[in-house]
Amino acid sequence: MKNFKTKIAVVTGAAGGIGRALALRAGAEGMAVVIADVDEQPLGETQRLLEAQGNRVVSQVTDVSDAAAVDALADVAWSEFGGAHVVFNNAGVMLGGLSWERSIDDWKWVLGVNLWGVIHGMRSFIPRLIEQGGPAHVVNTASVAAFIAGPFIAPYLASKHAVLAITESAHHELALLQSQVRVSLLCPGAVKTGIADSERVRPQALPTQGPKGEAGDAFAAAVKAGITAGSEPDQIAQFVFDQLRADKFWILPHPEFKPLVEKRMASLFDETNPVYERDLV
Ligand SMILES: NC(=O)c1ccc[n+]([C@@H]2O[C@H](COP(=O)([O-])OP(=O)(O)OC[C@H]3O[C@@H](n4cnc5c(N)ncnc54)[C@H](O)[C@@H]3O)[C@@H](O)[C@H]2O)c1
Repeated sequence: MKNFKTKIAVVTGAAGGIGRALALRAGAEGMAVVIADVDEQPLGETQRLLEAQGNRVVSQVTDVSDAAAVDALADVAWSEFGGAHVVFNNAGVMLGGLSWERSIDDWKWVLGVNLWGVIHGMRSFIPRLIEQGGPAHVVNTASVAAFIAGPFIAPYLASKHAVLAITESAHHELALLQSQVRVSLLCPGAVKTGIADSERVRPQALPTQGPKGEAGDAFAAAVKAGITAGSEPDQIAQFVFDQLRADKFWILPHPEFKPLVEKRMASLFDETNPVYERDLV
């Protein structure tokens, strides 16, 4: 898609971080924007910022792990604005600790938001986008954690590896159908957002946390430090729109991670055991 003016964007996880930046960038491109998040108050702030830019905006409190809620979000886009053209399945959460000590609730929470949220987004929007006709684009947010794996972050890694797989699969399906609907995979490295404090939006229905332990705490501190030193979300959002204009499937704002992916692949091809490097977060 080359021109976004007068088109409609939908952004999940739009209350802050990369999602808010994507929503504001979409607005700056002249799009009407449907914003969604579980966190109502900061979602309202995103709405205010979009209105201050002069954009048409509708906000909808939405838990992306709930299929019916994501269907309702699509209903809102169609009833308020008559459709959608760019859908960002962006909402995500992160937690740390030993993989085998994560509680069932930990796994359900992270996979519910990061994986099922994307699955629901694809199920609720892609059929409508196909039926609507014309060009449209779905952008699923994974992470460099879709390509590499380190310790203490297993549920997050599992979710992001899976998002890579399902997005690539959908890409092939849409190409085979000669559809004008495209999908892209956004895989940032470190970005200055609230992701290291995801517990703030943990649902009350999934309260049981596995122990973090000393190593998990140290890892969480390292992730926090990395994120604090990360890219600005608005730089990522600008990059995403540039890549959409170029019709890119892979949206990789941090190419410095590529050597780590190469090392992982080399370990696979050479059948040598994986070695953890400290910067492999
Ligand atoms: N920040 C990074 O370094 C980084 C790196 C790679 C990938 N990502 C990915 O970027 C995406 C955005 O995260 P961010 O870094 O902006 O973090 P963030 O915490 O600032 O934003 C995530 C948003 O998702 C919302 N959210 C959480 N659970 C939700 C749910 N069930 N339904 C709807 N919304 C929900 C949160 O309220 C929050 O507003 C995530 O998918 C994350 O995994 C982030």
